Amino acid sequence: ARSLPLKGKHVLITAGPTREKIDPVRFMSNHSTGKMGYAVAEEAARLGAAVTLVSGPTNLPTPPGVTRINVESAQEMFEAVMNVYPMTDVVIKTAAVADYRPKVTYDQKVKKQPGAVSVELERTTDILRTLGEQKEHQLLVGFAAETNNVDEYAMKKLREKNLDFVVANNVSTEGAGFGTDTNIVTIYQREAEPKSLPVLSKHEVAKEILDEVIKELKERSR
Ligand code: PMT
Repeated sequence: ARSLPLKGKHVLITAGPTREKIDPVRFMSNHSTGKMGYAVAEEAARLGAAVTLVSGPTNLPTPPGVTRINVESAQEMFEAVMNVYPMTDVVIKTAAVADYRPKVTYDQKVKKQPGAVSVELERTTDILRTLGEQKEHQLLVGFAAETNNVDEYAMKKLREKNLDFVVANNVSTEGAGFGTDTNIVTIYQREAEPKSLPVLSKHEVAKEILDEVIKELKERSR
């Protein structure tokens, strides 16, 4: 028989980029394709979890057995995540959420004009921080996309945002981060030593993360 170690668990995963509108035809976004998050969603479902995938715009098909909620902006992602959060056991935040959005979204296309223009930006809500503040029984896994000082920033995120794990990837390394089919990550935990993994497919990385999640859930149910 196939072992289903996540049977009975509800796992919430966020994936992909967000889009922050400037006007009806323009937006700000980033290079996330959703591959990392969709791999985690697919593997979690395979391990028996009930999976909710809150996804920004991607070109990927919904993995088998996964419930997908489509969102565009950071604000929409925040609302979708907070609605499902009380019912979840595990949250894995692979999405590349915009930190800033245009302060004003114009209802009509902004006409071009001579000279420079500027777009004023304001901060979006930090979803992960809010989840950390409202955490009850949930196991909270954040991602960290860094280009330098990965160790230091990952541990800082773990503590400041009240997370259980941080999965850090150095997005300036070949074969890691945005768009590729592979990733190179280190998994940081509160108590255990960080676990640095070699270059692996995003599906293998997903399995490694879920292995750690399963171990931690077992530990807690003792
Ligand atoms: O989608 P792919 O092309 O496969 O690429 C995968 C990936 C590079 C996007 C992924 O591996 C990754 O690193 N995801 C996190 C990207 C990111 O936004 O990192 P960050 O260091 O800026 O944010 C840290 C954490 O805070 C993330 O878990 C993010 O989801 C969360 N966050 C950020 C901003 C915000 N307003 N709310 C948040 O919850």
